[in-house]
Amino acid sequence: MLKKIKEFIKLKLGIVSLNQRLDYLAALNNVTATEVLSIDKVILKKAIGKLEQDVGKRAIDVKVPIHKNDLMFAFHLYHHSNDPVSALLTYFQIGYKTAQNLKKIVKKHQLKHQTLLDFGSGYGRVSRFFDSFFAETKVVVTDVKDEAMNFQEKSLNYQTIKHGTNPESFPNTKVDLILCLSVFTHLPQKTFVPWLLKLANSLNPSGGLVLTYKEENSKESVFRYYQQSEDEMFSFVSDSLKLEDYGETHVSRKFFEDVFKGQPYSLHFLDNQLAGVQKALLVVNNKLS
Ligand SMILES: C[S@@+](CC[C@H](N)C(=O)[O-])C[C@H]1O[C@@H](n2cnc3c(N)ncnc32)[C@H](O)[C@@H]1O
Repeated sequence: MLKKIKEFIKLKLGIVSLNQRLDYLAALNNVTATEVLSIDKVILKKAIGKLEQDVGKRAIDVKVPIHKNDLMFAFHLYHHSNDPVSALLTYFQIGYKTAQNLKKIVKKHQLKHQTLLDFGSGYGRVSRFFDSFFAETKVVVTDVKDEAMNFQEKSLNYQTIKHGTNPESFPNTKVDLILCLSVFTHLPQKTFVPWLLKLANSLNPSGGLVLTYKEENSKESVFRYYQQSEDEMFSFVSDSLKLEDYGETHVSRKFFEDVFKGQPYSLHFLDNQLAGVQKALLVVNNKLS
């Protein structure tokens, strides 16, 4: 206790590193913020205006509530720390363009899409734009973070599935289309393949699973897991994930090919057709029933 008080006094006096002071401020900000962030209206209007300009569309239907634990938003803020309009704009751009690109992939590959599962949807960076591209589709969002699911039910109006880090905790369900943006880029070896197979198995015939991954450039089957993540950086946030469950994952194409070898699925490597910097893979279920 005495040690903690000493540390606190040191912190107050500023006798700690700049990083510690910044962490302290970020933590203070997070624990005292309202659950849904109250974003400056002028900044919000500017960001939405720029988004509309960028995508060449007027009056985009943006669901604007953003949760204080949304580490995707924190990540954009971190990269544009002196420019909140750009932080919001890039956050919205990734969501909007991913939903738009998913629709293009669906059309090109003639995928069924009466039902859509946004797996590892988090605090809704992408799902907030589904109304613009999947208005006729029944959407369900999932995540291991219960708070994220409560937020998406309450503020974005989605049906949710709350589950654990292992596929055994996930219900047996059948859907046409599954999106996993920036989820398989983080899973460790113990859950990566089990989740991949579980999701592929959840597809209706002619349904597709579209996921992003970080590519290891090798002809061999390669899987690498690094003990680093945004959740680790923001470990003061109440629902941040542990490194044993969530880090940074790189795999080669051959790794995916080996997983599905001899099974009735076709793989389509889509490079950056879904989301800018990450590579995308489409897995189509060729089973007849
Ligand atoms: C980088 S975020 C991406 C969130 C969202 N897809 C997006 O692009 O904004 C990764 C998400 O995957 C979720 N996640 C982590 N491990 C998971 C698991 N085993 N199953 C499902 N979701 C998981 C995290 O809670 C987090 O919300």
